[in-house]
Amino acid sequence: MEKQTVLVLDFGGQYNQLIARRVREHNVYCEVKSYKTPIDEIRAIKPKGIIFTGGPKSVYLADSPRMDKEIFSLGVPILGICYGAQFMVYGLGGEIGAASDDAAAEFGRTDCEMKTDSPLFKGLKKKSVVWMSHNDYIKKLPAGFRSVAHSDKCPYGAIENADKKFYGTQFHPEVNHTEQGFDMLGNFLKNVCGCVGDWTMENYAATATRELKEKIGDGKALLALSGGVDSSVACKLLANAIGGQLTCIFVDHGLMRKNEGDEVEAAFADSGVNFVRVNAGKRFLGKLAGVADPERKRKIIGEEFIRVFEEEAKKIGKVDYLVQGTIYPDVIESGLGDAAVIKSHHNVGGLPGYVDFKEIIEPLRLLFKDEVRALGTALGLSDNLVWRQPFPGPGLAIRIIGDITPEKVAILQDADAIFREEIAAAKLDRSINQYFAVLTDMRSVGVMGDERTYDYTLALRGVSTTDFMTADFSRIPYDVLEKISTRIVNEVKHINRIVYDITSKPPATIEWE
Ligand code: XMP
Repeated sequence: MEKQTVLVLDFGGQYNQLIARRVREHNVYCEVKSYKTPIDEIRAIKPKGIIFTGGPKSVYLADSPRMDKEIFSLGVPILGICYGAQFMVYGLGGEIGAASDDAAAEFGRTDCEMKTDSPLFKGLKKKSVVWMSHNDYIKKLPAGFRSVAHSDKCPYGAIENADKKFYGTQFHPEVNHTEQGFDMLGNFLKNVCGCVGDWTMENYAATATRELKEKIGDGKALLALSGGVDSSVACKLLANAIGGQLTCIFVDHGLMRKNEGDEVEAAFADSGVNFVRVNAGKRFLGKLAGVADPERKRKIIGEEFIRVFEEEAKKIGKVDYLVQGTIYPDVIESGLGDAAVIKSHHNVGGLPGYVDFKEIIEPLRLLFKDEVRALGTALGLSDNLVWRQPFPGPGLAIRIIGDITPEKVAILQDADAIFREEIAAAKLDRSINQYFAVLTDMRSVGVMGDERTYDYTLALRGVSTTDFMTADFSRIPYDVLEKISTRIVNEVKHINRIVYDITSKPPATIEWE
């Protein structure tokens, strides 16, 4: 059966990614495209349904986003959300009012009553809370439409033209505050568009593998493997498609977490790809000797990474394709694909320009992070790799405050390993989004077995976050912290004091450097 696609047309709303995620949570494949996408391109996709997102503008402004009205003649079901609904009304001859004139603006949780004979609300409770966020409002419906939901202030909370399969909501069904929003979207996808919900990562893996095989043919591909989720999943996918034509270069800078280099190697050594592990620990630590400034550390590591990668790539010779682990949020955030090439360089801190490749392949560019994880599982990657928390490119170098020595790296690796072990044992490893130890350069007095000690203070950090742009410190139970603290001071030499970081981001950052 042909792949069923729903198009999310972006009118500049703040929730466009969220809409796409919700659609995919219904196992329906969707893509986010700009409202500027030419009608012929939209027609060629043969979408099962189209969703217009919200947007910040009023439809009457000269520069507000509008698209060709032919969109309404494609015979494709449409759901307009907020601005999207207003654009639909405006485009089909209805009228939009400015709330400032009529005091009809609504923001936040709003009680709403729905008509459950509409396919959009079938099987749902009649009354529930929805999330409103609008200044303008629908004043007069176009011909053929009726109101199917209303709030106190808003007679047209949701509208339908059942014949044409056009729907609009003044509220945002995609946000969690809209109590039945997820089911409303499901109703649109299934009852209105006829989507069957067969988008699964097993299907994706099979299709992507076939497409990659066709594209690459007998060419050669190169991938910079960091051991993070994205590059690991990309590697596995490519390995299945082209096996020995792929070479993965894993630069072990000696600043990985305990045993991590070996774990990455074990996961890929027998995968049928050419796996090159470059043990460059001495080289990196040599360059970093005596350097305490965080920015200098980052710069040195970034540059050295490129040098090592270049040297290895040269040994392999001419490669046709460079594989990058770019994922969908990067694509959406960087302007719906316009900036893809910039991102591909960004991923590995600037890849060498001279590596003679024809094209960049980004096999995950349409997937969200949770889908990448699900794909990894479908491809048989271990939980260890699939659920790996984010790890900064410069590794432990930016978790050792002050200058870096091999001894300090070993101390931090051991302490961090215990922290991670105990967090996993307490079954907190999936609820805390990132957690790690930091070796500070502060020493203090302690007493151990009647002896005076003068040793390092270790800081523990655990945060909960969805986007890593803001974060709250995790409330790890005291008894878990106590166990971690006791184990670390007993098992790791040169640490005699442990503190827990209780700052959020902002004002702190997640990492200490
Ligand atoms: P901060 O410390 O800025 O970190 O709050 C936000 C997230 O980014 C990760 N991070 C990095 N990741 N290269 C990376 O690939 C880096 O140089 C880098 N610095 C920070 C950090 O671990 C957190 O998840």
